[in-house]
Parts: sequence; C-alpha cells; structure tokens
Amino acid sequence: MKIKFKIKRYDPHSPDRRKSYMQAYDIEAVEGMSVLEGLLKISEQLDTTLVFRKSCRSAICGSCAMTINGRSKLACNTQILPLQKKHGEVVIEPLENHKVLKDLLVDMTDFWHKLEKITPYLTPPEDVDTERVQITKEDTYAIDDAQKCIMCGSCNGACNALEIDKHYTAPAALAKSWRFVGDVREGESNKRLMRLSEDHGVWSCVRCGHCTEYCPKHVKPLTCIERLRDRAIDSGHTDNMGARHVNAMVDSVRKIGRLDEAAMMFKTLGFIRSLGMIPLGLKMQLHGKMPGIMLFPTIDGIDEVKAIYQARNEDKVRERLAREKKEKE
Ligand code: SF4
Ligand code: SF4
Ligand code: FES
Repeated sequence: MKIKFKIKRYDPHSPDRRKSYMQAYDIEAVEGMSVLEGLLKISEQLDTTLVFRKSCRSAICGSCAMTINGRSKLACNTQILPLQKKHGEVVIEPLENHKVLKDLLVDMTDFWHKLEKITPYLTPPEDVDTERVQITKEDTYAIDDAQKCIMCGSCNGACNALEIDKHYTAPAALAKSWRFVGDVREGESNKRLMRLSEDHGVWSCVRCGHCTEYCPKHVKPLTCIERLRDRAIDSGHTDNMGARHVNAMVDSVRKIGRLDEAAMMFKTLGFIRSLGMIPLGLKMQLHGKMPGIMLFPTIDGIDEVKAIYQARNEDKVRERLAREKKEKE
C-alpha cells in the first residue's frame, strides 16, 4: 500500500538556514511496518540526505523519539498503517522543546543536563550496607514504573510546562528523582526534596498529563511528580507557592467542605501580593470563572468531610512512622 510521509526538513548549512519546510515522500508499506522502517526506506532508496537518530529498533535505546502526527512517539515502536487509517498520512517532525540540529535530529544536551542536576544515582548513608537492607514487595512497587525509563525524551517533548519555562526540571528528570527519593536505601531524600521544592522544580508542573500519556514505557511521570510533591509537603518543605496553594486548598475543604478561592489566594500569595490580584479576581467573578464571596460558605454534611480528613490524617501518620522506622533500621 502506498503511504504518504510528510517530513519536516531543516538544514543549518543551507543558504536560508532559518527556514524549515515539509517534504513529501511516497513509500510502499506493509502490515506491521514501523515509522522507523519507513524512514530507513526513504533514506536508503529515495533521499540519502535525510537525517534522524536511531539504534536498537526495539524500543530499548530511546534514540528515535520524534513527533509523529502531533504526538511524541518512538518511531521504532509506532506502526504506519494504523496512522494512515486514522490520519490519511504520516506527518513526522522533530521532538518538540528541543533545539533542532538537522531534519529530525535534535540536541539532547539540555535533557542530559537536567538529569545530571538531580544526581541520577543512589546515595545511601555511609554507614549503611545497601546489600543488607531488606526490600519488601511494596518498596519495589513504589519505584518500579520509574525504573523503566529509557531516557527517550518523549515526555519532555510533550511537556507544556517546559515549553514556557526552559529551566523547568521537566518530567524525565523528575521521574528519575522519584526513583531515588522513593528508594528505601536512599540517604539524601530530604536534601533532594528540598532542592525539588525550589523554583523550576516539582511545583512548576501544570498537570496536563501529556508526559504520562505519551511515555512509551508507562513510567507515569505525573504520578512520580505527585508523589514527590506529597513527600515534600510531608517532609516540611512548604515555604513555596505550590505547597502553600495545596495546603490552602486542603484547609478550605476541611473547614467548609468546598474551595474558597479568595481565601486560598491570600494564603498562597500573601496579603500584599493578593491586593494586586483583586482586579483580576473581580473580572473573573464577572465572567463566572470564580464564585463570589460566600456569606454562609459551609456545606451541609461538613461533619462527614471532617471524618474523612481525620481518617486520612491517621493513615498518613501511620505511613510516615513506618517509613521513618524503616529508615532508622
Ligand atoms: S503533567 Fe507536568 S510534567 Fe507532565 S507534561 Fe504536563 S506539565 Fe509537563
Ligand atoms: S519517562 Fe518515559 S517518555 Fe520520559 S524519558 Fe523516560 S521513557 Fe521516555
Ligand atoms: S531505535 Fe532504539 S528506541 Fe527506537
């Protein structure tokens, strides 16, 4: 079956080197053929100038991540015919949020720098023999998904927060952070959480979910980020806007059973900064985006809400004590 491949081309050495353009190729594809096989066919039979990265062809090495019909994917792990059926063509562009070097080849330097910054290896306490630490099934489950990462960068390519903040630690490095913070043998969890609670860390995520949706290895970076946030708050790293916002939200629901946006803003931003937000708040109210100030805000059945909180708190205390006991052992 003839399939149309549209590929975004870019050559930094061309006379007009700022320009990228789409180039179309028709190739013969059969059932089970991958996008990478299509690209290889093009580069071997139709156009030897086409540049892309690949190695294992088996979704192991992480080199062939690119944007395929608008989504970050591994070319070796994506079949052509289902794409053709859904979109009528195969459109390939370089991975987003990365500098393009040539055609589909992107610069991964920033990706590796972000990983390097989070100290991507276990740092157990000096006096602990890691081979003697008992690891339960639950301990393994907690970090199992995060260990599956193949460093392909698909998640960073799809990340909305990284698009607006180039300094954001980003999902791949955050998933890797959880792999160590969640490891019972780690000795620097608290230091890691403190660093991750600073600007461009866990609280910069806007929870769009793309990283989890597009990760070819089901690492679930967003779940890792949520666990890091939870652990950071539990460990007392709350002097930042993200943690203050979460605490204000929790507080509001515990007290009145619903969100009190105005009170939450004051608790998150502080009094002085909140004053500057009043015009925006009024505008939002006018457009029905925010409820007005509530005179009798408490919901019926608030006692039930309080009971849920009480039970949850007891669970959390139990979890924390068990973790601390394990760390001491
Ligand atoms: S959920 Fe967060 S980390 Fe994941 S892609 Fe969205 S903004 Fe980025
Ligand atoms: S978390 Fe998933 S998408 Fe991100 S680098 Fe690792 S394997 Fe790739
Ligand atoms: S070529 Fe190795 S992951 Fe695709």
